[in-house]
Amino acid sequence: MKRILLTAFAFAIGATAVMAQSDPIATRKATMKAVGGAFYGEMGKMNKGETPFDHAKVEADLKKIVESAKALPALYPDTAKTGGDTAALPKIWEAKADFEGRYAKLAKEADAALANITDEASFKANYVELNKNCSGCHELYRAKKS
Ligand code: HEC
Repeated sequence: MKRILLTAFAFAIGATAVMAQSDPIATRKATMKAVGGAFYGEMGKMNKGETPFDHAKVEADLKKIVESAKALPALYPDTAKTGGDTAALPKIWEAKADFEGRYAKLAKEADAALANITDEASFKANYVELNKNCSGCHELYRAKKS
């Protein structure tokens, strides 16, 4: 049983790596979508006061965001500038250091938020600050929806 689980796990990891290599556009879109789910989902509702503050859920979502922000820079290779219905703007490849720095900043701040959030008030304060990373980067590097 353990062996089967391990094999399945290894396969899942392998499949993700292969997918990232063969289709970085689909992979980065799916990864950003997951970040959106983590950020705007449960945490978004908590921020609006629609659901009560839940520390465990916040931590799980923030961890997902940290991991994704670390993986994302590699999903913008020179071979994946266009196609696949991407909203990534060409400017990304003209300002790669700034672009990647923004993912690094998101990873760092989401990681810091893990330690800084202790209650609802600190959660909301951190949420607002983290949100600036998303909107700031989208403003510059993501095509507006038509
Ligand atoms: C360093 C820049 C950057 C940061 C930081 C960033 N994003 Fe993105 N995001 C992008 C780019 C570029 C795309 C378009 C990707 C594509 O279409 O290839 C995108 C796409 C998305 C999408 C649409 C995915 C889809 O295709 O369905 C969502 C949702 C999203 N981001 C949410 C977030 C959230 C939430 C945050 C903050 C927690 C965030 N992003 C931070 C650059 C960034």
